Amino acid sequence: MAADGRSPEARVQTLREQIEDHNYHYYVLDDPIVSDAEYDRLLRELEDIEREHPQLVTPDSPTQRVGAGPAEGFEPVAHDIPMLSLGNAFSDEEVSEFDRRIRDQLDVESVHYCAEPKLDGVAIALRYQNGLLELAATRGDGRTGENVTSNVRTIRAVPLKLRGHNVPERLEVRGEIVMTRSGFERLNARLADAGEKTFVNPRNAASGSLRQLDSSVTATRPLHFFCYGAATSDGLPDRHWDILEQLREFGIPVSAEARRVDGFDGLLEYYETIGRKRGELDYDIDGVVYKVNDLDQQREMGQVSRAPRWALAHKFPAQEEITRLLDIDVQVGRTGALTPVARLEPVFVGGVTVTNATLHNADEVRRKDVRPGDYVVVRRAGDVIPEVVRSVPERRESDLKAWAMPAECPECGSAVEQVEGEAVARCTGGLVCPAQRKRALEHFASRKAMDIDGLGSRLIEQLVDHDLVHSPADLYRLDHETLAGLDRMAGKSADNLLEALETSKEADLGRLLFALGIREVGEVTAQHLARHFGALERLAEAGVEELESVRDVGPVMARHIRAFFDEPHNRAVIEQLLAVGVRYEVVTAAEDEEQPLAGCTYVLTGSLSKRTRSEAKAALEARGARVTGSVSGSTTAVIAGSEPGSKIERAREKGIDVLDEDDLERLLA
Ligand code: IVH
Repeated sequence: MAADGRSPEARVQTLREQIEDHNYHYYVLDDPIVSDAEYDRLLRELEDIEREHPQLVTPDSPTQRVGAGPAEGFEPVAHDIPMLSLGNAFSDEEVSEFDRRIRDQLDVESVHYCAEPKLDGVAIALRYQNGLLELAATRGDGRTGENVTSNVRTIRAVPLKLRGHNVPERLEVRGEIVMTRSGFERLNARLADAGEKTFVNPRNAASGSLRQLDSSVTATRPLHFFCYGAATSDGLPDRHWDILEQLREFGIPVSAEARRVDGFDGLLEYYETIGRKRGELDYDIDGVVYKVNDLDQQREMGQVSRAPRWALAHKFPAQEEITRLLDIDVQVGRTGALTPVARLEPVFVGGVTVTNATLHNADEVRRKDVRPGDYVVVRRAGDVIPEVVRSVPERRESDLKAWAMPAECPECGSAVEQVEGEAVARCTGGLVCPAQRKRALEHFASRKAMDIDGLGSRLIEQLVDHDLVHSPADLYRLDHETLAGLDRMAGKSADNLLEALETSKEADLGRLLFALGIREVGEVTAQHLARHFGALERLAEAGVEELESVRDVGPVMARHIRAFFDEPHNRAVIEQLLAVGVRYEVVTAAEDEEQPLAGCTYVLTGSLSKRTRSEAKAALEARGARVTGSVSGSTTAVIAGSEPGSKIERAREKGIDVLDEDDLERLLA
């Protein structure tokens, strides 16, 4: 019985139909509906069953051939020497087994290999006659491909004429046509602008571009070519590495990442190095390829039906997988931002099991057309958070409803609003919304804010759900009895928390500001604001212009700060915090003896010769001065270098002093 409990005959039949169907989508339509990993799994399952039941193998099984037949529109080309495929390995054990088999068969202690990236593009054969490009053919089914010469001639990386003296009379090289990632991004942007269909990934873009019937379209596509070998070694060296070197000398591009390595350890080391480098490369690779370096040894190893025994593809874990989208939930953030989150059927991708993935916002959900119940492509590359890339509409059941952002917050029922021109929808509930309150309290207690040890999200969850805490100040009103009565809290942990709360009352103004959670204000800006204003009351009264004069504060942030303090509720929170005993040390610049320019405000204009404007600004600030961008009533003086701007006129109008560069140097001295 096969894994699903059906007879092997029936399972083989199903697998073959599925694989053929996927081949058709992949090779003929250039529009795959399963991930590579899923395809590989089907093929492997079929291979496994056929190995166990050899009587089931038929000549037309997908295991007995390399790909699909040629599509209409291009002339068929017979490959004199078949274009082979590669055996795959997904684990170190399989690589070790590969190396062991070779050592055994060749009866050697250690094997010299050539290791190369496995380029994720379109396989191509290039035939050169007397050094001139005569024919370019796709792989097709390995025996017959398609003549795409006029398209390939448009790719600059493919030499039309080979360089050097010892070019063999006939030479057929093989390699991969790829599209660079950067080129792919640009192409898709261009297609989207023109209202045309975009490509799913660089490989599909390369394939689609190569199979254009109009080669002038191909000419506009950012295609690249990397050679990974020759069809025969006639007139070439007798080691694979030396052949690659020779081909490079003929002017044929070969991946710069190819290396000679020794033994199993060398293979794994290479795999890891390239894996780490993968993100930096401007082209997609889906693994590495190991090849026995010595051609005599290659011949001795020979080949099985679809692949040589002397080479192996060691695949990286797939970065994209297809899984079912169970539902779309909405998460409410600290500032009320609503984020649609995909709940997924667990799927192993990029080396981890993924169950949730962000969908960013409602526009993205619409653009990607993903609906609960859909099959979706999930991507997790490197340490990047997993995301849903697109749906697979070919696998959609007919009655799936499109998803829309709810009109009411799922947590508190408050209206949801979306500001014109902004992608983000927000819950208008503010701290009435328990979700926002929880996130705000988590932020308040976090390490870089008030650093309240022991106050984690689980506890906050309970405090809010039991209606014990409405605002940060309520935290300081909690007593031992209440805390000790909560889930997972004992007398000791309640004591510890109360102590941590007490300690946190002795605050630093920068941290307190950050803890308040003003939109856009990060921990560093909060410190700048603290140093500039010295006291909460001063900051609360500051106008937008003065706010903008603080380092890192731009117009948008200045408006958010102003709006925050204009909101009576926020003022009340601050008052309550002070009332329950939160204190911070008021540091005004004037109190600092090292700051002779404290209380002065300068405006810089024009270019200085002795230091840059930002150096001058830093030097003034180090002495306690403020440096602002515009002239106002509070400006002490304008410092003008050569070619000053209109600020100098404003200063004269207002009767404000104008200093030159020498004055500045004296001031700083
Ligand atoms: S060697 C006899 N080397 O992988 C060995 N193939 O399954 C034939 N590929 O579509 C292939 N990078 O186009 C070789 N460095 C590399 C490769 C590579 C990508 C592709 C190849 C074919 C598939 C083999």
